[in-house]
This record gives sequence, C-alpha cells and structure tokens, in this order.
Amino acid sequence: MTSGEKVDKIIPRGGSKCCKLSILFFCLLNISTSVAPVTGFVLKSCRISSDTAICVKSKLRAVPKDIPSAVKGFDLSVNRISRIEVSDFKNLPLLTRLDLNRNEILHIDSGAFANLTCLKKLNLNNNKLYELGENIFVGLRNLSELRISRNRIKTVASTSFKYMTNLTFLDISRNKLNKITNVHSILQHLPRLQNLFIQNNNFTTFYSWELTNSSLKLNSLDLSQNPIADFRITADVFPNLTWLNINSCPRKKQMRWDVHNKTFLSRVSTLDISELQMAYGDMKTLLETVNSSLTSLRMNAMKHDLTALINISCTIPTMLTLQLRYNKLSSLTSDIFTLCINVTDLDLTGNQIQFIHVNAFRSLHGLKTLSLSRNGLKSVPPATRNLPTLVELDLSMNNISRLDRDDFANQTKLRRLSLYNNVISALHESVFRDLIRLQILKLQTNHISKLNGAFKKYLRNLTQLRLNANKLTSIKNREFEGLQSLQNLSLHENQINRLEPGCFIGLTNLTNLLLQKNLITEEQLNSNVFNDLINLRRLDFRENRIKYNNYSALSKPPFSNLALLETLAIPSQHRREKSYLPLNFLQGLTNLLEFNIRSIQLIFLHIDMFKYTPKLQTLDISSNELMDLSPDLFSPIQNLQSLYISRTSLQSLDFLIDANLTKLEFLQARKNQYSVISEEMIRSVPALVYVDLQGNSFTCDCDNAWFRQWAENDNQTQVFDAYNFVCNYPPHLKGMKLLKLDVRSCSVDIEFICFICTTCLILLFMVVSFTYQLLRWQLVYAYYLFLALLVDNKNKNKQAPHQYDAFISYNTCDEPWVIRELLPKLEGEQGWRLCLHHRDFEPGKPIVDNITDAIYGSRKTICVISHQYLESEWCSREIQVAR
Ligand SMILES: *[C@@H]1O[C@H](CO)[C@@H](O)[C@H](O)[C@H]1NC(C)=O
Ligand SMILES: *[C@@H]1O[C@H](CO)[C@@H](O)[C@H](O)[C@H]1NC(C)=O
Ligand SMILES: *[C@@H]1O[C@H](CO)[C@@H](O)[C@H](O)[C@H]1NC(C)=O
Ligand SMILES: *[C@@H]1O[C@H](CO)[C@@H](O)[C@H](O)[C@H]1NC(C)=O
Ligand SMILES: *[C@@H]1O[C@H](CO)[C@@H](O)[C@H](O)[C@H]1NC(C)=O
Ligand SMILES: *[C@@H]1O[C@H](CO)[C@@H](O)[C@H](O)[C@H]1NC(C)=O
Ligand SMILES: *[C@@H]1O[C@H](CO)[C@@H](O)[C@H](O)[C@H]1NC(C)=O
Repeated sequence: MTSGEKVDKIIPRGGSKCCKLSILFFCLLNISTSVAPVTGFVLKSCRISSDTAICVKSKLRAVPKDIPSAVKGFDLSVNRISRIEVSDFKNLPLLTRLDLNRNEILHIDSGAFANLTCLKKLNLNNNKLYELGENIFVGLRNLSELRISRNRIKTVASTSFKYMTNLTFLDISRNKLNKITNVHSILQHLPRLQNLFIQNNNFTTFYSWELTNSSLKLNSLDLSQNPIADFRITADVFPNLTWLNINSCPRKKQMRWDVHNKTFLSRVSTLDISELQMAYGDMKTLLETVNSSLTSLRMNAMKHDLTALINISCTIPTMLTLQLRYNKLSSLTSDIFTLCINVTDLDLTGNQIQFIHVNAFRSLHGLKTLSLSRNGLKSVPPATRNLPTLVELDLSMNNISRLDRDDFANQTKLRRLSLYNNVISALHESVFRDLIRLQILKLQTNHISKLNGAFKKYLRNLTQLRLNANKLTSIKNREFEGLQSLQNLSLHENQINRLEPGCFIGLTNLTNLLLQKNLITEEQLNSNVFNDLINLRRLDFRENRIKYNNYSALSKPPFSNLALLETLAIPSQHRREKSYLPLNFLQGLTNLLEFNIRSIQLIFLHIDMFKYTPKLQTLDISSNELMDLSPDLFSPIQNLQSLYISRTSLQSLDFLIDANLTKLEFLQARKNQYSVISEEMIRSVPALVYVDLQGNSFTCDCDNAWFRQWAENDNQTQVFDAYNFVCNYPPHLKGMKLLKLDVRSCSVDIEFICFICTTCLILLFMVVSFTYQLLRWQLVYAYYLFLALLVDNKNKNKQAPHQYDAFISYNTCDEPWVIRELLPKLEGEQGWRLCLHHRDFEPGKPIVDNITDAIYGSRKTICVISHQYLESEWCSREIQVAR
C-alpha cells in the first residue's frame, strides 16, 4: 500500500472464532500437511493468460510494476504510456514478446530494455517517437523482430541498432527518415537482417551506394509508398532478394529506373509495382531484369495501358501469379490474356467487370485459381466453363442473382467455390452435378430460400458448406443426403423454424453444425432429427426459441445418439418467461466437454442434470435466476475445469466446499449477491488459477480478512480486478475498496493468540497425562512427604511431649500375632505405652491424619514386616511417612 492512501482498520468481532479454531485445531493440524497450498494474486490493470500479461486498453499512463516476473509475454497495446523508463522492465528477465503498439511513447530512456536479453519480438508501432537515441536498445541481443512503424522518427543515432545483432525483421515504415543514408546507419549493424520494411518514409531517391557498398542478406525489401524519382542500383548489393515492393503513392512524377546490370535483381520472384508510374521503356527494362526469376507480379491500380503491361509481363515464362486488382476494368476482351499461357493464378478482384468474353480465359491453359470477387457480374460468366484445370473460383461480392443448370458444367477439378455476398435466391437441382471434387462451397449472405434438392445427390466430396445468412425457413427431409463427406455445415442466421424428420439423413461425417440465430423451438428437437449425426462434435443453438416449462424427463431425449458430441451451446433463447431443462436433456452425451446455457431464464437445475456427462470440463450457466446451487449437482462432473456462474443471484459460493471440484481452474462468478469468500471455499478448489468475482460487493470485516490477504499476497491464482472490489458492509466502510483495508488485527493477533493458548493447554494436558501414567505412586508419596513436612514443622513449634513410646505399624493379617505375642511382651513386661491403629486411632479423623499424628505422637515406630505388610498399600504408606 502506498503511503498517503486512506487506511481503515477492521475491528475484530470477538472471540467466537477463537473457540471454533481451538476445536478445529487438531483437524487443521492434520489437513494442512496434506492439502497443497492454494495461493492468489491480483494485478491492478492486467490479467495473466497462460504466460502472458495482458494490459490492453487500460488507459495506462505508465508500465505497471506488479507483473509476475515469470511472464514471457507482455501486451501493453492501446494505452497512454508516454515514456519508457529504466525500471519498467527490469524485473521481467524472461520476456520474449513485448507489445507497446498504440501508445503515446515520446521517449525511451537509455537502457530501458537492458534486462530483456531473451526478448525476441518488440512492437513499438503507432507511437510518437521522433528519434532513436544511442543506447535505447542496449541488451536486446536476442531480438529477432522489431516493429517501429507509424512513428515520427527523423533521426537515428548511428549506434542505436548495434546491440541487436540477431535482428532478422525490421519494420520502420511510415516514419520520416527522408534519406536512404539514415537507413545505412541502421543496416550497418544488422548482419542478419532478412526483411526490411521502409515504406512511406518520404525517400525521393534510392541510390544503392548510399545504402551500402557491400552485399546484404536481405530477402525482402519494401520500398513502397515513397515518392522515389530516381532508382539506381550500381552494385550487386541484394544478391538474395526475392521479394521486392516498389509500389508507389499517387504522385505526378515518373520514376527513373537505372539498374546497371540485369543480374542485380535476378533472384526476385515476387514483385509489386502497383500504381508505379514509369516510362514504358523503363518498365520494360524492369521486367527484363526479373525475366528469369519472377513468379508473382502485382500490378494493382495501374495508371498505364494495362493491356500493354500484361502483354510484356506475360512473356516472362516463369510468371505464374498475376494480380490485377482495382484496375477499373469493365470488360475482358477475348485477347487480353492471349500471351499469359503460363499463368496459373489470376486475381481480378475489385474491378468493375460486367462483361467477360467467352474466350477471355481460353489461353490460360493451366489456370488453377481465378478470382473475380468484387466486380459487377450479374451471372456466372460462361468464360469460366472453359477452364478444365480450375481448382479455385471466387465469384463473391458480385450481383449474381441466379445459378443456371450449366454454370459449373465440366468443372470436375474444382475444389473451392465462393459465391458469398451475391443475391442468389434459389439453387437449381443439378447445378453442382459436375463438381465431383468440390470440397468447400461458400454460399453465405445471399437470399436463398429454396435449396431445391441441390445437395441431395451431388457433391460427394464436399467437406464445408456455408449457407448462413440466407432466407431458409425449413430443412426438408433428406435435404443433404448426398453430402456424405460433409464435416462443417453452417446454417446460422436464417429463419429456420422447422427441421423435418430425417432432414439430416446422410450427414454421417458431419462434425460441426451451426444453427444459431434461427427460429428453432424445442418441438423441433423432440423429433429426433439429430439421431443421424453420429459423428457430430459441435452443435450450436445460440439465439433460437428453445424453451421447456418443466424439468420432467423427456420420453425421447433429443441428443441420445450423439455420443461423440463435445460442445453443446444453447445460450440466449428469445423469450421472457421462466424456464426449466428436462432432467434427461443431456442423456447420451457421454463425451460432452462443454455445455453452455447462459441466459435462458432458467430458474432451476435438477441435480441429475449432469449425471449423463461425466467428462464435462466447461459449464456456463451464467445469467439465469438460479439463486442457489446444490453441491450434488456437481458430483457427477468432477472433471470440471471452467465454471461460469455470473449473474445467477447466488447468495454464497459455499456450495463449492462440498462440490469437490478439485480440477477447477477457472471460475467466473461476476455480479452475484454473496459478500463473503471463505477460506474453506478457496481451499476446496486447489487447482484454481483464475477467479473473476467482479461486480460483487463485500463485507469488510474479519470474515473476509483471510480472502483479502490471500487475494493480494499469493501467487498461483489470479483474482481478476480485485483492486476494484468495494465494501457494502459495515455501513461506515461502504464504498471503500476491500484491498485498502487493514486486516492485520483480525488475522495475525487473534489467530496467533488462539494458537498459543491452544498449544499450551494441549501441552499441559499431555504432561499431566504422561506423569499420571508413569509416576503415579511417586507422586502420591511425594504428597505425603510434603504433608509430613508440614506436620513436622507444626509439631516442632508446639514442642509437644510424646504421647506413646512406640507406634506399631502392621498389617491386619498380622493382628493376632501383635495382640497375642507383641502386646503382652512390650506393654506388659517392659511397661511401654504403644499406639495401635485398631485401638488408638481417633474415629472420624482422616486416616492419613491419624497415621501422621500417631507417628509424631510416638518416640519410635515399630514396623511388623511380613509378606502381607509389604503388599498392603496403607502399610507401605505408613512406612514411607515414618521414614
Ligand atoms: C537467445 O536465445 C537462444 C535460444 O533462442 C538462447 O539459447 C540464448 O540463451 C538466448 N540468449 C540470451 C542472451 O538470452
Ligand atoms: C560507397 O562507395 C562510394 C564511392 O566509393 C562512397 O561515396 C560511399 O560513401 C560508399 N557508401 C557507403 C555506405 O559506405
Ligand atoms: C523474357 O525472356 C524470354 C526468353 O526467354 C523472352 O522471349 C521475353 O521477351 C522476355 N521478357 C521480358 C519481359 O523481357
Ligand atoms: C463439357 O465437356 C464436354 C466434352 O468435353 C462437351 O461436349 C460439353 O459441351 C461440355 N459442357 C459444357 C456445358 O460446356
Ligand atoms: C468420414 O470421415 C472419416 C474420418 O475422417 C473418413 O475416413 C471417411 O472416409 C469419411 N467418409 C466419407 C464418406 O467421406
Ligand atoms: C473428490 O474427488 C476426488 C478426486 O477427484 C476423489 O478421490 C474423492 O473421493 C472425492 N471426494 C468426495 C467426497 O466425493
Ligand atoms: C509462490 O509462493 C510461494 C510461497 O507462498 C513461494 O515459495 C514461491 O516461490 C512463489 N512462487 C513464485 C513463482 O513466486
């Protein structure tokens, strides 16, 4: 806690806890040795996900200092940090990825990254840096990728890059370097650099000798968006260059091209000259330079006579890919590609093509990929039918309104067909008949309301079919019967309200079925339509109309055949009434891993609900009015790892204590009504690594003292947003932050005192028991000795004369002998006065007092020792006292 923050003390509630603790002490003593320590921690603005600290969009003005030192990734993008200081990353030596994209960094202190010797990737894009000082990158020995584009860098100190000897990727685009000589001072220290991006830096000339006189290892060079008027290469400085981008920003001046030797760029295989303005002769020279190596050419948005450029470039025999986007072509004539006999990939995206001559692609004998996306086509152009080798055809985002019977005739090699974002309203029964190899068909975002049996017989190899965002209202019997290889079927965002019996017959290989955002009701589930989908892994019913009025068992559980299903999602059903789920709703789903019923107005969950799904790992029952959860609900699902119970009106999380969720790692329980988190509850989920309790208000007294300390101090479980937890009780602390309260008075003192008291009591008890067991008789004698000593003192003081000459100590068994033999001898013949217990003891006086009085009242004590005497307790005592 920083000084100056208001600190409130919690007043302990008294001793009741102490007693409870004392009683529990023995139990705890045993438990605490067997339970793994559960720990927690909180971060002010970040969260940890696997090994990465994520602090995105947190309005941070400085780098947070509470990040655990074990993290490997640190994402600080989209914040307001303006300065990087030396201490910022000092304690994060294991960091390999650091993202500072979209901040307001103006300044980086020297040595700010000095400890990041493992760092591999650093992103400083979109900041306000205007210079790179001498020592800002010191320590980044292992950095391989640096992104520092979209800053305002004008000057680069000549040594600032010298520490990054392992850099292979540098993006310093969109700055203000202005002169290639600035790039020289960067490059001279980067012997391993392979990819250099220096687009949009306002270079007006490119002279190779200003960059370097020795050959570089560069593979790719991006010089685009620079107003270069003069481009000269006088030495073979790019012997490895394969990727060159010199596309340019709109400008008036033409670029002068002067590459001394045609071998200087003879390895370039991908060239982007989009928007470039050059004299026709220079353009020709440029293309000649790459004549033997070019495989891919981009000529997007050209200002030149495109036909002429296509004709030169298509004489390059190695060129396979030709990209001609945004060239405002409105029609394709029959001879436009006549020379392009080797081209296999042709991309005409984003033109205004409405008319294509039927022979336009005739010479493209080996064409495999053709994109006509984003044009003005009103139907599938017949020109595409003469392409027997075509593998991929993209006709998306046009104005195609209908598909004719022969549109894809003879396309037996086609594997991918995109027709999304058109205005198709119906399919023809045999339109796909020749597409025997088609694997992916994208028909989403059209106006299709009738499938007309198009999928009943054909497309035996189709694996993906997208029909989402159309106008389907029902799925007919055997509608997809031909699609025996289909794995993914997207039917979401239609208006489906009817699933006819048998509508999924034939889809035996289907693994994913997406039905979200339709009008499906629970009646559609009752007709067992899903029984045919025996391979289904994922089924999504988000935002439909499924609703049950009670939890009584269904006679035909809807998913009883889906033994392989792993994910079932039924969240957000549209209706307002309260609902239930039938107790055998999940019957048959023995492999279900994830079940989501968020926000379906559920008011009750039967405790048998999950007994069919023993493998369940993720359960989301958030946003339902459940009020209370029984621990028994969870007893069949002991593998649960993630539990979402936000907004369920729970009064307490104590059901977790008995739920035995020993594998639970993730708990999200936002916005409920509990106010105390007990230690027992936290201890009952020992695997927890992330807990989100946001939006609850807490009791700020000793009941939460343990939780408060746990949340802040320990290091296994992250407690999300704990710094913002507020108190609502007691009233004088309302609105305070839980973590700002001082709980030392609760936890340390009381518990410690209890501990000491209990320990002492127990030790005393143990000593007494031991002593009693082992030294019982010695104690008894000691007691009498002590008494004797007392009496001795008393008698000494009194100086009383002896009443008897001798006290006879004997056993009752020896009495006849004493009376007959001893008494006559001593009393009769010698005239002594003897003290005998049967004759002289005062009745009523305690026997012990009698003994001591007798011994002290006599000059001598005579013991009559026999076997019985030695065995008698009283006699031994007498002898002891006498001694
Ligand atoms: C750099 O990374 C390599 C492995 O990629 C590692 O072996 C080496 O120790 C790292 N160097 C430093 C200084 O951390
Ligand atoms: C390359 O050599 C030329 C002339 O030999 C010289 O003017 C230029 O400064 C040198 N460039 C570099 C980057 O050293
Ligand atoms: C490329 O070389 C071939 C001969 O191999 C030649 O016919 C063609 O015209 C050249 N193209 C260009 C653009 O230089
Ligand atoms: C398909 O190919 C066959 C033989 O190559 C040809 O006769 C037929 O006209 C073609 N169909 C269409 C619709 O082009
Ligand atoms: C169904 O899927 C399995 C495994 O992915 C595959 O072996 C089988 O060939 C598929 N069946 C069909 C008809 O494609
Ligand atoms: C709790 O779960 C563990 C393992 O998951 C199991 O061994 C133990 O018997 C369970 N205890 C109870 C009370 O169910
Ligand atoms: C986590 O905390 C325990 C004790 O609470 C400590 O021994 C351990 O070193 C800590 N681990 C880390 C990675 O900080």
